[in-house]
Amino acid sequence: MNKKKEKIIIFDTTLRDGEQAPGASLSSEQKIEIAYQLENLGVDVIEAGFPIASPDDFQAVSKISGKIKNSTVCGLARCLKDDIESASKAVSKAKKGRVHIFLATSGIHIKYKFHKAEDEILSLVKRATRMARKLCPDIEFSPEDATRTSKDFLFRVIETAIKEGAGTINIPDTVGYSYPLEIYELISDIVNNVPNINKAVLSIHCHDDLGMAVANSLSSVLAGVRQVHCTVNGLGERAGNASLEEVVMAIKTRRDVFKNMQTGINSREIFRTSRLVSSLTGFLVPPNKAIVGRNAFAHESGIHQDAVLKRRSTYEIMNPKDVGIQKSSIILGKHSGRHALENRLRKLTGIKNLKCTTAMFKKFKALADKKKEVFDEDLITLIEETRPKPVTYELLSLQVNTGTDVEPIALVRIRHNKKVKQAESSGDGPVDACYKAVDKIAGVKAKLLDYKLEAVPRGKDAQGRVRVEIRARNKNSIGRSSSTDILESSVKAYLEAINRVV
Ligand code: KIV
Ligand code: ZN
Repeated sequence: MNKKKEKIIIFDTTLRDGEQAPGASLSSEQKIEIAYQLENLGVDVIEAGFPIASPDDFQAVSKISGKIKNSTVCGLARCLKDDIESASKAVSKAKKGRVHIFLATSGIHIKYKFHKAEDEILSLVKRATRMARKLCPDIEFSPEDATRTSKDFLFRVIETAIKEGAGTINIPDTVGYSYPLEIYELISDIVNNVPNINKAVLSIHCHDDLGMAVANSLSSVLAGVRQVHCTVNGLGERAGNASLEEVVMAIKTRRDVFKNMQTGINSREIFRTSRLVSSLTGFLVPPNKAIVGRNAFAHESGIHQDAVLKRRSTYEIMNPKDVGIQKSSIILGKHSGRHALENRLRKLTGIKNLKCTTAMFKKFKALADKKKEVFDEDLITLIEETRPKPVTYELLSLQVNTGTDVEPIALVRIRHNKKVKQAESSGDGPVDACYKAVDKIAGVKAKLLDYKLEAVPRGKDAQGRVRVEIRARNKNSIGRSSSTDILESSVKAYLEAINRVV
């Protein structure tokens, strides 16, 4: 019989802890836009801000509360009367509102921040939770710096907060100090030693100072936590928080480990959400970022590409479509093999039985040596380049001497009927000089009707694609060519046009 799935609640704090990332400030309009997308993504709780922090923050939480229908909207507060009143007022319009109160409990914080004794901290927790519970039915309590708090004291704090009405107890690894085995043990100890723990949902909030936020969050889930705090792209104070996309996809992908657990996230909205947060905060997503980085599903090595085309799961543990990435994951570059190239050419042309010829493959390799990545537009050019053409005159080499105050001179060498011919000419510009040299060799007086040069596809290492139209021997003729050297493509395009005439 199928066991009932256990829900892992996703508490997103991009708009609160995420916005605490230095330089990541958002306007209320931007926060609303992100909140709508978080709701589309299916997050259970949106921590929309810290209402007492500023009038703008209050406004943002209040506006979001009025607009969001499915997710719970949460406001943060210290264990202070004004904070709690402000937070509960800000979420009062929400269909489901929550106040999240926090107080540091570790020895180092109590001693240096508060100069208080443990008993005083306990009474603050008691008073604040009781007060908050009167103003809002849904209260979450966080003992800040929990992972560095003495366990016995932590158990007492948690027990008190639950007794006073906190429905969720969140365990912050505020400074990202813990590691997976240690946090597993801490959560297990809380589960086993806090007498009323089954009256609350246990939650985790990990920071990434040692790069272990996601690992610590997942380890906590295995130990009994049922709510995870996270942020989109792992944004957050200092090194950031546990990244939402990584936590969600780990639970989804490793069903063998997270047995019977599931989140309510629509993973196909992950990529879109990531890019929205990145563009509004100005925090770029590193290319190698798990799940949402540009390279997360990109395969460059020929061996990998070949295997992925045979069976995706050889090198992909997730389907890119499951996180909302539609693009092809095969990056064609110098390590790509013939199979990958043929596959892409077939997709591009729609020709199912297209064969990648040796000429095509050679040309592709030569291009990939010059460019880091070969784009689809390059391939279209490559197909054009390798299609059979009349080759009466074939370019062997060209040399051009040009500059701002010298007359351009071109020396062109061409093969014609198995013979090598060369000619030199000056011209109005380097292209004109080359064309005049070609005319001398071919014995054709061609009139240039049109010349177009465009960069394909983009960037500094783009190719120059040239299209020329000429009139010679009473005929119009067109030639096209591409190369990373624009003089070479200009001459080859011109020669193709001449070849068609002769
Ligand atoms: O990191 C932290 O401890 C926090 C609390 C406010 C939960 O962000
Ligand atoms: Zn935090």
